[in-house]
Formats: sequence, C-alpha cells, structure tokens
Amino acid sequence: MDNENEQTGGQSGSKDEAIIPATPSDDDYAREADAQSDIEASDGGEAFAVDDDQGEVFTEKDPIDLFRSWLALAGKHEVNDPNAMALATVDRSGMPNVRMVLLKDVGARGFTFYSNAESVKGLELEGTPKAALCFHWKSIRRQVRVRGTVEALSAEESDEYFASRSRGSQLGAIASFQSRVLDERETLERRIEDYDAIYKDRDIPRPDNWHGFLIQPTEIEFWVNRPYRLHDRKQFTLVKGGGWKNVNLYP
Ligand SMILES: Cc1cc2nc3c(=O)[nH]c(=O)nc-3n(C[C@H](O)[C@H](O)[C@H](O)COP(=O)(O)O)c2cc1C
Repeated sequence: MDNENEQTGGQSGSKDEAIIPATPSDDDYAREADAQSDIEASDGGEAFAVDDDQGEVFTEKDPIDLFRSWLALAGKHEVNDPNAMALATVDRSGMPNVRMVLLKDVGARGFTFYSNAESVKGLELEGTPKAALCFHWKSIRRQVRVRGTVEALSAEESDEYFASRSRGSQLGAIASFQSRVLDERETLERRIEDYDAIYKDRDIPRPDNWHGFLIQPTEIEFWVNRPYRLHDRKQFTLVKGGGWKNVNLYP
C-alpha cells in the first residue's frame, strides 16, 4: 500500500491523526493540571479533579458499596446514561461478542439488566451463562470491570420491572424480534400499531422471552486515571465461603 488511508480504509483523504488524538505530551499533562486547578480555584475547591490525583478513590471496603459510590459520582458528571455498560458474552465457538446494555439494579446479589432472551446475547448467555461487564465513565475517567456467572431473574421480578416501563417501551419489547433481520422499518411500526390495538384498554403483559438477567460477580476491578498512564487499579476477587479479597494491580 502506498497510502496510509488505503490501509485504514479512510475515505476523506485525511490521515488518522485527524481523528485519533495524539498521546499526551508532558506539556499537555501540565496544561491539564493547570486547567484543573483553575477550575477548582473558581469553584471554591468543589470541582471534581479528573486529570490529577483524584485523592482517595477506593473509599469503601466492599466492592459493591464502592461500585455504588462511583456510579453515584458518575451520575453527577456523565452527560447521559451513567448506568450504560458493555456486556461481553461468547458464542458456541468461543468467539466473543459485546454490546451496551443498561444496568437496572445493583446490590449484594449482583448486577441486573433486561433484554430479549431470544436475542443474540440471550442465546449466547443460554449457551454459556458467564459474562463480563465494563463501565467507562469518561467524565470522571474511571472504569469498572466485572466478571461473573449469569442467571435469569424470577418471573415476578421481571414482571414488576416490565410493569414500571412506559407503554411505548413495553410495546417495543413485545413487537421487536430483537437481533433478527428486519426487512424494513414499516414492518416494525406496523407490529407496534397492531399490538397497541390489541392491548387498547388493557395492561400489556411481559412477553415470556423478555426478562431480567443477573450477573453474579466473582471479580470486580476498579480503575482510575492518573497522569502518564500510571493509573490506579484495585481488583476484588470473591472468596469461597464468602467475602472478598483485594489486590492492587500495576497499571
Ligand atoms: C446505551 C445503550 C443502552 C442499551 N441498553 C440496552 C438494554 O438495556 N437492553 C437491551 O436489550 N439492549 C440495549 N441496548 C441495545 C444493545 O446494545 C443491542 O443493540 C441489542 O440488545 C441487541 O444485542 P444482541 O444482538 O447482541 O443481542 C442498548 C444500547 C445502547 C447504546
């Protein structure tokens, strides 16, 4: 190849540097630190430090409590969906797959999301009921990774969540053959209209193939950005018989 753009499939004639930010130089780090201290000074020290030492970030001993406190902080700073997480699964051949879903509950038993059990993710989880999650909150420059086993939530709990959703979202769940080929948008819209008419004066029941999934964590890793890629990492591993042990990891 005599042209870099051909290698990367670029169409615009611009080089990759135009879209991939350069790795920060010493000057960039110094500028970021100055900008951060200006913000803090103008905000009476209330501003949240993202580029420099964030202070004590591993504030709780229990990883679920720690996760909840980081999610609460992310909720104050993210532009939207602080509960969005990448969900990784594998297919029968071991080929990984990943997509975003929304966390709907988190507590001692694990992390919950809702989806269609006949979607690609649903079928992959049926074949291999193990998953990994990754949260990345750009605004606070933190990441949390979770690995664990997966099981379906009870019908009662799924019913309760389904009933709390807007009618439009309920119709969407019932009308969508999630992840299967759709010939044209109108087909989906027609299906929604049809179900809307069928359930005109009635509550929409939860479809059997739509329910909650619970990821029961065996490993949770917390990562926080530090200058020069010297990030802080703390990994919690579930101990047989109960409780968690934790270690720090090199960045
Ligand atoms: C921010 C975000 C949140 C999402 N949340 C969900 C969700 O909670 N449940 C879901 O089924 N799909 C959700 N999706 C759509 C999935 O990423 C995906 O397109 C869909 O579930 C089909 O995935 P699959 O073919 O691997 O099963 C979300 C997408 C984005 C970008």
